[in-house]
Amino acid sequence: MESGSGDNGGIVISAPGKVILHGEHAVVYGKVALAVSLNLRTYLELKDTENNEVRLDLPDIELHRVWKLEDMSVIFESFTGGDITQPGPPTSEQLAHLKELAGIKKEEDSEVKYLAVIAFLYIYLGICSHKRKSKLPSLCLRVNSNLPTGAGLGSSAAFSVCLASSLLTYCGAVKTLDVEKESHFGRWSQENLETINNWAYEAERIIHGTPSGIDNSISTYGGAINFRRITDKDGKVTPKIVPLERVPLLRILLVNTKVPRSTKVLVANVRKKLEKYPDIIGPILDSIEGIANTCEKLFADSGDNNDNTAAIEELEELIDINQHHLASIGVSHPALQQVCQISAKYGLHCKLTGAGGGGCAVTLLRKDTSQGSIDEIQKELKSIGFDCWETSIGGPGVTLHRNIHRELSEGASAAIPKALLEGL
Ligand code: PMV
Repeated sequence: MESGSGDNGGIVISAPGKVILHGEHAVVYGKVALAVSLNLRTYLELKDTENNEVRLDLPDIELHRVWKLEDMSVIFESFTGGDITQPGPPTSEQLAHLKELAGIKKEEDSEVKYLAVIAFLYIYLGICSHKRKSKLPSLCLRVNSNLPTGAGLGSSAAFSVCLASSLLTYCGAVKTLDVEKESHFGRWSQENLETINNWAYEAERIIHGTPSGIDNSISTYGGAINFRRITDKDGKVTPKIVPLERVPLLRILLVNTKVPRSTKVLVANVRKKLEKYPDIIGPILDSIEGIANTCEKLFADSGDNNDNTAAIEELEELIDINQHHLASIGVSHPALQQVCQISAKYGLHCKLTGAGGGGCAVTLLRKDTSQGSIDEIQKELKSIGFDCWETSIGGPGVTLHRNIHRELSEGASAAIPKALLEGL
C-alpha cells in the first residue's frame, strides 16, 4: 500500500471544497460555470485492519458504521468486471443490494447519512472488487472536514473525491507521480485524476441525483476551472474542464446562513420551472452563462492586477445581476438576501453560491476594504447566527499527505481538523 501519513502505514488524503463564482444551475443544462477551490478541506484517513470488517467513521455527522466482510460476499460478484477508469452508475440490482447492506431505513436516518453510506458502499465495492478479485479488504476509513455539510461548499464532493482517491490508490488502480516521491505531498497524473474524478462523480450522482459534476471536478483538480457538460448525439455526457490561466487574487467573505437545503430538490425545482416556462427561464440560464463568460474574460484581461478598480466594479455588477437571476429562478432565500443587504451597507456585493435555498453566500471584498469594516460586517452577520470566513480561493486539488505530522510542525495545523490528528 502506498504510504500516506508516514507513521502507521495508512493513507491520508485531503480534497478541497469549492465556491461557484458564476453559473450554478445553468451548468446543469450544459452552460459554462466558473468554480474555484477553497482552502477549506476534507481529510480522509484509510487504515488496513485485520478484523474482516469495513468501518466508516464520519464523526462530523455522527455516522459510524461497520460491516462484516462475510455479509458483503454475497453481492461481491455483482460488482466485478467493467473498465475501472470508466465507472457507471449502479444497476438497479446493485442498488437494491446496497440499500439492504446500508442497514438503515431512510425514514430512520437523515437523508444525508443514508446517501453517504450508499455512496461509500458503492465506491468501496466497485473499486475493491475490481482490484481484489478474490477477497474484499478489511479497512477502516475516517473522514473529518473543515467544510460545513449541505451548505453549497461542495462538502459531499470533497468526501466523494477523498473516498475515490484513497480506495483507488489503496488498490493500486492509480499511483501518485514518482516525481513527487520526495515531497510531503503526493499528486496523480492527469489520466489518474480523470479516473478519480469519474468515480467521485458516480458517488455524487448517488448523493445528488443529477449533479453537473462541477463540484467533484474542482475538488479533484483544484485551482479555478471553466466547466461545461457536453452531451453527444447519443446522449452521453462528458465534462469539459478548462483550468483558468489567470485568476486575480480575490479576497472573499464566505457566509454560511446555516439554513438547510437540498441540492437535489433545488435542481429539480428549477427543472420544473424550466419545463413550465421554457421561454422565460431558458433566457435567464443563457444570461447566467453570459455572466460566467464575461467574468472569465475579465479575469484574463485584468490578470494579477488587483488595483484595477474598473474591473472590480464590473465584477461587482456581474455579482449583482447574477444574484437577481438566481432569485428570479427561485433559489434565493430570505437569509441569503439578508447577507446581501448587510454587505450592501458596507458597499460590498454578494451572491449565493451553489444550489442556494439557504447555504452559503459569497461577498467580494475590495482591496481597500479595511480590516475594521471586515470585522464589523462579520460581527453583524455572526450576531444573527451566521458563520463567516474571510478566506482565499484557488488552492490545490486532491492531495496525498505523506507526513501529516511534519506538516503540522511546519505550521499547517490550522487547516487540519483536530479530530483527525487525535486519531493518528
Ligand atoms: O450547492 P452545491 O454545492 O450542491 O452546488 C450545486 C450546484 C448546482 O449547479 C446547483 C448543481 C450542480 O450539480 O451543478
